[in-house]
Amino acid sequence: RLLPALHSGRNTRTQPSRALSLFTLNVMSQQKTLRSLQKNYQNGVPITVVTAYDATFARLLDDAGVDALLVGDSLGNVIQGHATTLPVSLEHIIYHTAAVARGTRHAHIVADMPFGSYGASLDSSIHNAMRIMAEGGAHAVKLEGGQEQAELVARLVSIGIPVMGHLGLTPQSVHALGGFHVQGRGAAAEKLKADALALQQAGAYAIVLEMVPRTLANDVTAALSIPTIGIGAGNGTSGQVLVCYDLLGLNDTFKPKFLKHFAHLAGDTRQAVKAYIDEVKARTWPDDAHSFES
Ligand code: KIV
Repeated sequence: RLLPALHSGRNTRTQPSRALSLFTLNVMSQQKTLRSLQKNYQNGVPITVVTAYDATFARLLDDAGVDALLVGDSLGNVIQGHATTLPVSLEHIIYHTAAVARGTRHAHIVADMPFGSYGASLDSSIHNAMRIMAEGGAHAVKLEGGQEQAELVARLVSIGIPVMGHLGLTPQSVHALGGFHVQGRGAAAEKLKADALALQQAGAYAIVLEMVPRTLANDVTAALSIPTIGIGAGNGTSGQVLVCYDLLGLNDTFKPKFLKHFAHLAGDTRQAVKAYIDEVKARTWPDDAHSFES
């Protein structure tokens, strides 16, 4: 897709450095950045975000045209098999972010700051965010919490680290919240709105709203001048995010009310592997077409 740009310029073949810079410019112009996400937001075009944890899925999601890839700490659930995101470490996030970055050409990449990587002190939190950007290759970090994180968000933004906030159901606080429940009902709605405004004031460029009533999500979206990215927050937010494995139906036992399986890959995977087992047992595969001659 990028080759025409390389060959359309005059004498690009005899000017490798010019060819290289055209190539770089072309890639850069298709790169989704904070500015392009902001443009979507201003034009009322919903922003699409999907989680990714490895290079292969990152490439497929990027090819499909998703705006942003989130290296979510949900990898603790879907990759590592934990019941919560709490065991996910900074090293895990850096490892998976680097893999995603290698598979991505265009999408904006945001990586979660995992539980314990922020909150102990400002200095250690900033150092950890820097590692996610420098070693993982993320373009931004996401962290959970509202007013209590405003100082950290402001510091990160002031040193050039874009921050996405995360309010509503914040899975790193699952024990404090008493489970994975809808948040922001009743009196809690005002607190959530104040948290969103505090994050915006601190310089966050977007805020994930997870499992909140859609009327509250709409109110918060209307009150802000930065995008809201919803998951279980109705269709009035500025964008949507889903966990890749959920979107693809890779885990067919997980089906909360807000989730739609856009494919049914759990069943497809079982069927494909069963076909492989059957053919190997029957010695019908590998056949001659899949074998080497002497
Ligand atoms: O970790 C994650 O995947 C997330 C999304 C669910 C927003 O935080």
